[in-house]
Amino acid sequence: MSLQLGDTAPDFTAETTEGKINFYDYLGDSWGILFSHPADYTPVCTTELGRTAALKKEFEKRNTKVLAVSVDPLEQHKGWTKDINETQNCNVDFPIIADEDKTVANLYGMLHPNASATATVRSLFIIGPDKKIKLMIIYPASTGRNFNEVLRVLDSLQLTSNYSVSTPADWKEGEDVIISPAISTEDAKTKFPKGVREVKPYLRYTPQPNL
Ligand code: BEZ
Repeated sequence: MSLQLGDTAPDFTAETTEGKINFYDYLGDSWGILFSHPADYTPVCTTELGRTAALKKEFEKRNTKVLAVSVDPLEQHKGWTKDINETQNCNVDFPIIADEDKTVANLYGMLHPNASATATVRSLFIIGPDKKIKLMIIYPASTGRNFNEVLRVLDSLQLTSNYSVSTPADWKEGEDVIISPAISTEDAKTKFPKGVREVKPYLRYTPQPNL
């Protein structure tokens, strides 16, 4: 049975470029991003890991720890990291798991045999502080992920976990949000003092509450 949203993220202990890591200990009370890439010393993966390193401050702002994984060996990860730093002008200082025995890849369903017989696809999981899976996205090897979208979803997840709101299509931090249908418009006016804009009884907007 493959993992689904709301499931508990499986724990594991693995060798990484930052030493042996237990996943739950590494995450602590933070949010987490676990993402796989197909192979070291490949072009798209080089840009993805460089981009992740460059976004370090953005992930820190969101109390989020990142952890990369592929089935390549540790020494190869270490050599490739130097190339990433050189070519992407960054400093990769998050752990990269050397999942040679595919333990993590199998736990998280990152191997899709009809896409690649040996390599992990581009899976990405956002895990909440409660260790539940909040988001899963899967990209093919040929398409690098959009890390602006990853940050956007993190913002939405963190907002909607604290307030009775959802975020509309293409929402970005700072834009109006949607009031949960479970709240009556009368109650919403008290709960959202910045204002309630009713388009339809089931479609009500309010300014982002945490700004
Ligand atoms: C890449 O990162 O460029 C890549 C990796 C595996 C297959 C195809 C592309």
